[in-house]
Amino acid sequence: MSKIVKLPGLVDVHVHLREPGNIQKEDFATGSKAAIAGGYTTIFDMPNNPNPIVDNISLEEKIDLAPGRIFCDLGFHFGGSKVSVPFFEQVKKKVWGLKVYMNHTTGPLLIEDQNDLELIFANWPKSKIIMVHAEGPTLATAIDLAKRHGQRLHVCHLSLASEIDQVRIAKEAGMPITAEVSAHHLFLTNEDLKRLGPFGIMKPPLSSKKDVEYIWKNLDVLDMVASDHAPHTVDEKLKSENPPFGVPGLETTLPLLLNAVAEKRLTLERVIELTSTNPKKVFGLSSRHFESAFGETKNLNGSFSPLGARAQDDNNTYIEVDLDEQWEIRNEFLYTKCGWTPFNGVKVKGRVKKVVLREVPVFNGEQIMVAVGQVIYP
Ligand code: NCD
Ligand code: ZN
Ligand code: ZN
Ligand code: ZN
Repeated sequence: MSKIVKLPGLVDVHVHLREPGNIQKEDFATGSKAAIAGGYTTIFDMPNNPNPIVDNISLEEKIDLAPGRIFCDLGFHFGGSKVSVPFFEQVKKKVWGLKVYMNHTTGPLLIEDQNDLELIFANWPKSKIIMVHAEGPTLATAIDLAKRHGQRLHVCHLSLASEIDQVRIAKEAGMPITAEVSAHHLFLTNEDLKRLGPFGIMKPPLSSKKDVEYIWKNLDVLDMVASDHAPHTVDEKLKSENPPFGVPGLETTLPLLLNAVAEKRLTLERVIELTSTNPKKVFGLSSRHFESAFGETKNLNGSFSPLGARAQDDNNTYIEVDLDEQWEIRNEFLYTKCGWTPFNGVKVKGRVKKVVLREVPVFNGEQIMVAVGQVIYP
């Protein structure tokens, strides 16, 4: 039996493709292949490279590595730090958001000094969005900063009941705040840590069963699911007493969500909202924006795709999933360069069978065909 349905291409606003600087973990080609295999046609890359993306030159150098090698559309975020503030005006048309790391995680981008935070929040253009890595008690600081500086705040990888409550209260008070949750915080708990060892280590850490249940009960507060695709090699995970934080997620997030639909924990409509409609709305991604951006794209970087500059819309870009297909997630079939997933061996119902990007079939359920992705600007 099969039940094929057509969905809009998914949008993931939070991925780490590791290029440049950590291409043993992932690169633009392998990471964007993983995205396509997972049903994503648009992804936004984070700035926490070993040399963080905190100035115009590092941003331009990173962007220049992508054309011709990407299988889905790719946008970029900028890193918030004291040294990046002078570049805000220069980069605002090239990036979708500013990412501020307020807790320790992968990479050197950590801002703990209150004066630096004030400077960053005061200077980022108000029309754009600030994304924060702000766990637990730090979230209150982020909300306070955004309020006082009149900024739109997007809370990354929310994982605790207390964070849900804070976001709900801020929303009810009318604050422009949005939040994402990652699949590993929906489908794993800290009880899985024994089994997963270093492959279950990420920031924020896996939550208690109670927190996970609370997130499911309060899913209405969440705006989107983001993969926080954060690959590290098996060696890196195993060799160190302090394994690096992060797990890959691009290829498993949609199958897990579709499985939740099969289990009646979610509706398919809500999955579409969480993975496509809302991320597009929150980050201002529309066909109109794509088109206006493409004029500038050419001026910035020369020509891009063999197809020329063209926007995604629901007619020319879509995916097909089989809601009935049962299969087992396996490390050996992944496109991500790291070659593992914390969901190895998990049986799910629901599978990506086809991805079409601007009328070009790029995935047939078994093979990824052509790199027709484009760099996209707001
Ligand atoms: C991310 C990474 O490895 O880049 N790691 C993680 O555990 N989530 C960084 C981040 O998103 O905090
Ligand atoms: Zn510290
Ligand atoms: Zn983070
Ligand atoms: Zn991340």
